[in-house]
Amino acid sequence: MAATTAVPGPAGNPLVGSLFDLTRRPLRTYLAARRDHGDVVRLQAGPPGLRVEFYAIFSPDGVQQVLGGEAANFRKESAFYDELRTSVGNGLLTSQDADYQRQRRLIQPLFTRRRVDGYADVIAQEAQSLTERWRAAPDGVVDAAEEMSRYTMRAVARILFGADVEEAAEVVHHNFPLLGEYVKERGFAPVRFPRTWPTPGNRRGLGAQRALYEVCDRIIAERAARGSGDEDADDLLTLLGRARGEDGERLDPAELRDQVLVFLVAGHETTATSLAFALHLLAKHPEQRKLAQEEARTVLAGRAPTAADLEALPYLTRVLKEAMRLYPAASLVGRRAVDETVVDGYVIPAGAQVVVAPLVTHRHPDHWADPERFDPDRFLPEEEKARHRYAWFPFGGGPRACIGQHFSMLESVLTLGVLLRDFEVEAVDRRVALAQGITLRAASPMRIRVTAGG
Ligand code: HEM
Repeated sequence: MAATTAVPGPAGNPLVGSLFDLTRRPLRTYLAARRDHGDVVRLQAGPPGLRVEFYAIFSPDGVQQVLGGEAANFRKESAFYDELRTSVGNGLLTSQDADYQRQRRLIQPLFTRRRVDGYADVIAQEAQSLTERWRAAPDGVVDAAEEMSRYTMRAVARILFGADVEEAAEVVHHNFPLLGEYVKERGFAPVRFPRTWPTPGNRRGLGAQRALYEVCDRIIAERAARGSGDEDADDLLTLLGRARGEDGERLDPAELRDQVLVFLVAGHETTATSLAFALHLLAKHPEQRKLAQEEARTVLAGRAPTAADLEALPYLTRVLKEAMRLYPAASLVGRRAVDETVVDGYVIPAGAQVVVAPLVTHRHPDHWADPERFDPDRFLPEEEKARHRYAWFPFGGGPRACIGQHFSMLESVLTLGVLLRDFEVEAVDRRVALAQGITLRAASPMRIRVTAGG
């Protein structure tokens, strides 16, 4: 069949297209777009003259083409990536071309399985502190989303900054959410005002950016001044500073800072969302909770977890994967098509903004039976093998796939193990509203009752 330029899509409002739907309820809008119009959908937003078009691609074959096979044609030049690059700099998540190749060469060796497994101690210590915090919770009720956001921020900051964690943590804790909100507001807004205008939003966002730059630059400069004094330090910032390529290439101080900010963006709320929804789902589903608890209590009885325990916790791993299916932290991933191409029989024009949506593909009824149901056994090895590689892609795919995937799974599975070993969990809020921030997150309370013992 010949390719067609007639890509279906919602008509939206005659004046502003789907602007309000995309800004107020983006997730529902993308889910409805697939249901009503199919696997390739054209969305339009904004008033005539300023109208922008997006092509959303939902089929696993189409996703594979965008992230994998034709990755060179689909560049990180979406509005979201432009905003992120301006706000947190040109680090591994945001850079492209020669800059990217250099950074990936230098950074990849710091993310081997062996290296990442070395962070299990920090995870075990932080998980232990969390259990102590929960034991002291006034009425035994905690908000899973808030708790996991605090927890993963602390864990990633310790891994990044090592001994300087206290100096960084306060500034990061206060300013990071403000910068995140700013990137989200601008990155998903079809129409943006210049950053130089003295609006309250610009002032808040740029102030937060300045504070974050300052604390990172200060720590980097202090370390440079100390020279090679802390030979034993193995935090990520030290390792990034020491990384050398074959011809002596290295990251300069500004690039180091950009990497730190990118790792904070990429490694904090993402893992928090996965963990929070895993807890929420288990707290609502007694049958699966029992299986998860039995595994945690048998494997981790009376001791701290180690990296080797990841293999011994297959059910918890399946729970996490299923939580990431239903609630993928990176729910929308944007690109810009350089040249015209054809996806699933539809012409995607040169220059088009393209979105792939784990949230929608992960609930695609052609690829998932009863997609809304929570069922960790969808991730039994034989089930995984039988499925399209891109029916589930919470970590992206192709050459720009997530470098933190193993770190995140290690952190999430071991943490969930420690929590379920020590606590009974029961949902207080059974329904949780979703919102699209920089990552997918809960927009209403996500309280669980945690009772020590078991
Ligand atoms: C559940 C947790 C996580 C999820 C869902 C997630 C998701 C993703 C996705 C979808 C991408 C690809 C983005 C794109 O193609 O545009 C990505 C890239 C990336 N992630 Fe993650 N991530 C997670 C955890 C982490 C952690 C813990 C770190 C760091 C410690 C991290 C660091 C990165 C970096 C640096 C990239 C860019 C890689 C490159 O382009 O070479 N992520 N992540």
